[in-house]
Amino acid sequence: MKSLGIYIHWPWCKTICPYCDFNVKKFEEIDTDTWLKAYIKEIKNISLFTNLKEVKSIYFGGGTPSLISAEFIEKVINFISNNFSISSSVEITIEANPSSTKYNNLYNFKLAGVNRISLGVQSFNNRDLKFLGRDHDSYQAKKAIKHINTLFNKANFDIIYGIPDQKISTFKKELNEIFNFAQSLGHLSIYQLTIEPRTPFYKLLKSGKLNLPSEEKLSDMYFMIQEISERYKLPQYEISNHSTFGHESIHNLGYWRYNQYLGIGPGAHSRVSKNSNRMSLIQIKSPKEWLNAVIKDTNGIANKEILSKNEAAMEVLITGLRLKEFLPNDRFNQFSKLKLEEIIEKPLIKGLIEEGLIESKKSKIRTTSKGKAVLNSILYRFDKVINSNY
Ligand SMILES: C[S@@+](CC[C@H](N)C(=O)[O-])C[C@H]1O[C@@H](n2cnc3c(N)ncnc32)[C@H](O)[C@@H]1O
Ligand code: SF4
Repeated sequence: MKSLGIYIHWPWCKTICPYCDFNVKKFEEIDTDTWLKAYIKEIKNISLFTNLKEVKSIYFGGGTPSLISAEFIEKVINFISNNFSISSSVEITIEANPSSTKYNNLYNFKLAGVNRISLGVQSFNNRDLKFLGRDHDSYQAKKAIKHINTLFNKANFDIIYGIPDQKISTFKKELNEIFNFAQSLGHLSIYQLTIEPRTPFYKLLKSGKLNLPSEEKLSDMYFMIQEISERYKLPQYEISNHSTFGHESIHNLGYWRYNQYLGIGPGAHSRVSKNSNRMSLIQIKSPKEWLNAVIKDTNGIANKEILSKNEAAMEVLITGLRLKEFLPNDRFNQFSKLKLEEIIEKPLIKGLIEEGLIESKKSKIRTTSKGKAVLNSILYRFDKVINSNY
């Protein structure tokens, strides 16, 4: 049975990190009751766009949703439970920052129905944490992981690598510590630092004050992660995600497998089926405007459009080729005019197979580990074939 993921976006953070490009705002006094009312109203509004009723995952992301009270979270979960059918194996995740992750908070989140935590550790090196503008140190992060471990069967923590002045030799040592902790939780997300436009880091980069590792060094770091992850039995299942068997993120797998999902809250995105097409819904980005629109107006939707077949087909590739598992042709073919079986015969794509960047098996395809390191250039070639019939 087809199932649904629900994403709830909480935009507030205690401090804003200089690399972050998510839709976030510095925490201010807010009227929590009105915000709760708005989320509940908007879940109802957006749920009208899908006929799927079984919810497989709920994800509270941000921002820093660990700043929300457990009562608030519980009321949102209860509302979803009363209005959808909840899968018996539903995964309910909350993103947490070490500075707001005390044992009691975690315990109360668990009582509220949360069964997975995703902790933003970023680094176990205090120098790098300071550089990243984090409001916690390595000791707090390790303590939070310990608490999470005693309370939850499923959990993750996030790490960022490719930090300016990061040395390969120290990174290698750090990786052993990272994977030791990750092994205890069963899951790790490890992202290469991206310098996003309009962030303080971008301004530093433009003024020549950010000494980023070279492309070659970054590639060495990426392959070092893959090698060490195998040793710790936490293989890569998505470009930036590693897990032991059965500890994969059900919610994120839903995005990568192009399942339907609802996104509620400022700036959140939804993808739902509309006849044989995909519809995209985007919520109003500004938290204040979103709240006003939902409470005083009809809903918080800023944009609603049916994606063209080719746009949807490209999205299937953008998401599905991030995974280790094969992308089945029927997922792609329902949108694309050109079938996957025909596409892999095109010279541009055959070249990718010959270069060892993608593999095909019975018309299914996947990227190799080498291919995942250059995914953008792979997608560029698929785009040429799909949109320009090369
Ligand atoms: C939505 S953020 C929020 C998590 C949580 N608020 C925190 O910061 O601890 C999810 C993750 O994205 C990653 N991230 C955010 N900005 C990034 C960037 N510019 N480059 C690489 N990773 C980034 C971080 O690892 C972060 O933990
Ligand atoms: S990285 Fe996390 S804590 Fe920092 S600004 Fe972004 S969402 Fe907030």
